[in-house]
Amino acid sequence: MTPSVRAPSLRLPALLAGLVLAAAPGFALAQAPASSLGVRLFNMQCKTCHGEKSTPAGPTLTGVAGAPIAGRSDYAYSTGLKAKGGTWTDAALDAYLAKPMAFAPGTRMMVAVPDANNRAAIVAYMKTLK
Ligand code: HEC
Repeated sequence: MTPSVRAPSLRLPALLAGLVLAAAPGFALAQAPASSLGVRLFNMQCKTCHGEKSTPAGPTLTGVAGAPIAGRSDYAYSTGLKAKGGTWTDAALDAYLAKPMAFAPGTRMMVAVPDANNRAAIVAYMKTLK
């Protein structure tokens, strides 16, 4: 057998396996780059309160990564979040999203993201909001 004969017979099963995997639920989510998972989660779970401009529902998260915690002048933060101090590092964002009330007792944000992979994807996406 020459390689030119063998090649198509190897390629077809691989192609079919790829199609089966791609159709399986969860595959697309697991394989998608963090940014595309992050943008979807952000749009579903965060955007209602966090738009491009700060509103009474929540401060905008544009530029939040690396910024001072509760540092915007266009939003009236809770005293709980203001008392926290420091900056929004990846670790701080992750901890806040995991358990907002544990990170900053008295914060008004009640929404948590229990899944660590989802948090990582959302944090990665927030870093693109500039
Ligand atoms: C129901 C409304 C609501 C939703 C949904 C929500 N938040 Fe919030 N978020 C708030 C409010 C209100 C604050 C201000 C909290 C305070 O002052 O204690 C806040 C604050 C924050 C802050 C701190 C901002 C700063 O300037 O210091 C971050 C980061 C944040 N939210 C991320 C998220 C992410 C990510 C999601 C989606 C997983 C999300 N929030 C979903 C209402 C919401």
